[in-house]
Amino acid sequence: MEYDWNEANTSSWKELWRERRMDNSPLNQSGVWRYREMLPFEGAPPDRIITLREGSTPLLRGPLAAEYAGLRQITFKHQGFNPTGSFKDNGMTCGVSQAVRLGKQIVACVSTGNTSASMAAYASAAGLKPLIFLPHGNISFGKLAQALEYGALTLQVKGANFDEILALVRQIADRSGIYLLNSINPFRIEGQKTMALEMLDQNDWQVPDWVVMPGGNLGNAAAFGKGFLELRELGLIDRLPRIAVVQASGSAPFYSYMQVRLATAKAQQGFAPVTAPETLATAIRIGDPVSWPKAESVLLRTNGLAESVTEQEIADAKAIIGRSGIGCEPASAATLAGIRKLVATGTINPTDRVVAVLTGNVLKDPDYIYRYHTGELKTPANAAITSTYGNPPQMVDSNPETIIELLQKLAN
Ligand code: F0G
Repeated sequence: MEYDWNEANTSSWKELWRERRMDNSPLNQSGVWRYREMLPFEGAPPDRIITLREGSTPLLRGPLAAEYAGLRQITFKHQGFNPTGSFKDNGMTCGVSQAVRLGKQIVACVSTGNTSASMAAYASAAGLKPLIFLPHGNISFGKLAQALEYGALTLQVKGANFDEILALVRQIADRSGIYLLNSINPFRIEGQKTMALEMLDQNDWQVPDWVVMPGGNLGNAAAFGKGFLELRELGLIDRLPRIAVVQASGSAPFYSYMQVRLATAKAQQGFAPVTAPETLATAIRIGDPVSWPKAESVLLRTNGLAESVTEQEIADAKAIIGRSGIGCEPASAATLAGIRKLVATGTINPTDRVVAVLTGNVLKDPDYIYRYHTGELKTPANAAITSTYGNPPQMVDSNPETIIELLQKLAN
């Protein structure tokens, strides 16, 4: 989506955006609509914008996580603080507002969980009917529960993975007039790009050296890239961060593609999807990401790169983010695992300013957490994952003496 900003008084925008944070109107409370000069809804009546006060997610310092990664300092942009607990809300507020503007009644998406939770909430808030397609079995319980609670018609498709269901739903959408809210929807990408804007606004417009995010369908990398590139085009920043996309090794077609792409510097390499993607980070269990060409362009334009990490690396990084008092869902922890690898190989310098985007809330996947801490977590191939930072619950008798004894042992 392109804009004509020639007439815009962009020099006042930073101040305007900052002032809006002090205002109680719904649009200014939203960390998406606060930046509406850069969104395609100019002149839309405020009551036709569907907002749940998404965005305004914090930048958090994580000293323990920094030490784990070998960095002097790390900053997390925690999108799990959103109303439905993931970064999808930033895009969904725009996607659903566009559905309202078009007069659509039914909105649909295929999802590994977070998109569906978000779409269900925003569609129901707008009075639209949400229709959700999910891979049967491979979705965390927290996300499925959200879809049900927010009132979506939830279809679990038997024997098909995310990529197969997406192909199916595209056919259905063509024939039935339902509005598709997958990340190919350009309005969602526009909303998601405000994460880049808000991150810099919160950082007093100091551009970090690296912005690192997990990669699934790659809409997020496309959106962040678009945000940074537009800010530079507008003269609001004068340099770009390097964008790094981290995938789970069992579900890493973009990583494989970019390895060859960056090594040979040749365009038009074939993109080979992974036909049976596997990872416990089910949010990014995607073998044929639709937005790979956009993500490729973003990495090339920001001097970025892709990395891949194992199930063990994700699990341990996640536990460290938890112990930092921050917490996130498995896919989000791929960032810290990837950063650690990139520091170890000297690609990221220990003194670089790194922002990791935590895409989802810790409560999205409690089953994973419980298994890790009790030593029961297994990879999709059924190999044991070591609970390196395991913290299992302990059984005690209802007896003050034994509990005091236990506490004394801990103190020693
Ligand atoms: N992290 C989380 C928590 C996600 O839910 C997703 C994607 C990603 C990272 C990857 O983002 O697809 O833009 O590269 N979840 C989608 C969904 C696919 O259906 O909820 P991406």
